[in-house]
Parts: sequence; structure tokens; C-alpha cells
Amino acid sequence: MITARSTPNIALIKYWGNRNDDLRLCAAGSTSMTLDGPYVDVSVECADTFSVSSHNKKLGEKDIARFSKTYELIKTYLTAQSSQLRAQSSLSISIDSHIPPSIGLASSAAVFSALAKAIAGLLDTGLTDEQISVMARLGSGSAARSIFGGFAALTNHESRIANNELIDTSTAYQIATSEHWPLHDIIIVPSMDEKKVGSTEGHAAAWSSPHFRDRLSAIEHHRLQDCIDAIREKDFEKLQQVAEEDCLDMHRCMSTQTPPLNYLNAETHRITGEIEEIRKSEHLPVLYTMDAGPTVHLFCEESARMRVLEYAKAQKGCAIFEARAGKGSRILG
Ligand code: DP6
Repeated sequence: MITARSTPNIALIKYWGNRNDDLRLCAAGSTSMTLDGPYVDVSVECADTFSVSSHNKKLGEKDIARFSKTYELIKTYLTAQSSQLRAQSSLSISIDSHIPPSIGLASSAAVFSALAKAIAGLLDTGLTDEQISVMARLGSGSAARSIFGGFAALTNHESRIANNELIDTSTAYQIATSEHWPLHDIIIVPSMDEKKVGSTEGHAAAWSSPHFRDRLSAIEHHRLQDCIDAIREKDFEKLQQVAEEDCLDMHRCMSTQTPPLNYLNAETHRITGEIEEIRKSEHLPVLYTMDAGPTVHLFCEESARMRVLEYAKAQKGCAIFEARAGKGSRILG
């Protein structure tokens, strides 16, 4: 049995929409910071029949079908890589999640990156992290980025090759390590309601937004590179501008697609407005970003941490959680 541990990541340039939903081939590049916690452990072993179980959550038929489909796709990918790389015909998967359901952090990125890492460990044939990122992406697009510690990018290689639909035309890589820029993520959770529509369904309708094509073009033409440059140069102001622009742009697309997805609520808008004011008046290196929910992630440098934490703790009725840049997926043992 092999166990791998992984953590969520929070996007700075958001992944939204696919050019192939089945293979989760993303329509544009994205970037993120991998958190140092909370974590998920996934154990895998060879078995006669496919099974998946979770220590902390009752898995429904839909969940099991997703794991089974992911494993079939991973086998297809591995066979295409090399005839030596045939994965076991069946697998037993066991998930032990330490991500509290109340903190508004999606666990799929951590779960599928840990699954990919564990399968690679079981095969023990020296797959690269880039190859493992493809395996993770087949289960959840954003999981490809959690393979790496620090800051990662998920690329869209569509234009570089003749066949756009190839399984590995979207891979992740590390932009910089966690030591390069040890940013904090102070997380404010205004609502603990289960979201009604998950990312998978949302991605499938992304193209129906009249703003979606402009979004892809902005990411391709400047945003992705600006974000990567900001991370490499540790230029917080540049990161803040590009990350907030992209976050608000994604939510504009979400809310104008059919059917519309409005993940942000009045509390989110109040908090982001107040953060803009505090940042301006106190010259604080802090930025906000939100994924598919009302949870606000406040990324900041060490110099702003105490002030941002003080602000977060003063928010009545909100749960607060703190993380920093982490190390990515690893095999335990
Ligand atoms: C808004 O990776 O959760 O968080 O591939 O269906 O699992 P699936 O989608 P997922 O989508 C992430 C959407 C996002 C932005 C991001 O993390 O980049």
C-alpha cells in the first residue's frame, strides 16, 4: 500500500472552462499558490475489483463514478506514455481527509493530486511531476497544480500542436518554491452553506457567457505572464492587480453564463470593499481572491499578517482559517 499526502491550492489566475470537459483540458492557463494545510491522505493498493472509501465522508454513486472514470483515464494516459507503464487493472483507494467541511475549501484538488501521486508511487517507474500533474488533472483540473509546492501554473498547450484534444495538452509546472515568497492566506468564511452547483457543472457552461472569449484572450495575451512575472519578481502590487482583475472577471463570466452562477454574497462584497479601503489607507500588501464560493482569501506578505488577521477576527459570524505557502504533494513513509 502507498499513501500520498496533499493540500488545496488557491488560484491567482483562475481555471474556468474547458476545451474538452471529459479530459479536463483547460481552455486557458491558470496559476495558484499551494497551501501548507489542511491535508488529505490517499492510500492505494492493487486489488481484484475497483473500490474507493473515505474515512470521513459517505461517498455517493456520483463520487465513486468520478474516481472510477479518473482511474480509467489515468490508465489510458499511462499506456500512451509507454508500454512499460501499464497501471494495475484494478485499485483500492482509501481517502482520509483532514479538511474541515466548514472552512469553504474545496477538497478535490487535494484528493486528486494525492491520488495521482500515490498511483505514481505504486508504479514506481519514475514518472515526472509534470506527468503526475496530468494524472491529477484527469480527476480535477485544479488538482494538477497541487502536485507542486509554492506557486504553480497549469498550462494550455492548445496552440502549439496539431491535435488539441491530446490528453497531455494541459500540464502543470512549478513557478517558484514556497521559500521564494512565503505568502500567507488568511481565509474568511462568511457562509457555510453547501454550494448548490459544483465547479464541474459550472465549467461545462462557461462558454455560454458572452464575456468568456474575452476572458480567454486577456489571460493568453497578458494576465498569465503578468502573474508569473509578479511571482518571480515578488512584486506584490503587480500580483494584487492581476489577481483581483482575474478573480472579478471569472465571477463576471460565472454570473453571465447560462444558467448563471452567483457564488459571491453581500458579505463577500462588503469584505472586499473594506480590504480595498484598508489597503489604500494603511499601504498594506494584501490582496483578495475568491473561488467557487463566498469565501474570501486574503493573501498577504508577512509585514501585513497581524493587521489582516486582526481585521479577519473582527468579522462577526465568520469562520477564520490561516495557511501559508506549502510544499505540494508527497509520498508518506
Ligand atoms: C473556481 O478544479 O474544482 O476554483 O475539474 O471539475 O474539479 P473540476 O473543477 P475545479 O475548478 C476550479 C475552479 C476554481 C478556480 C481554480 O481553482 O482555478
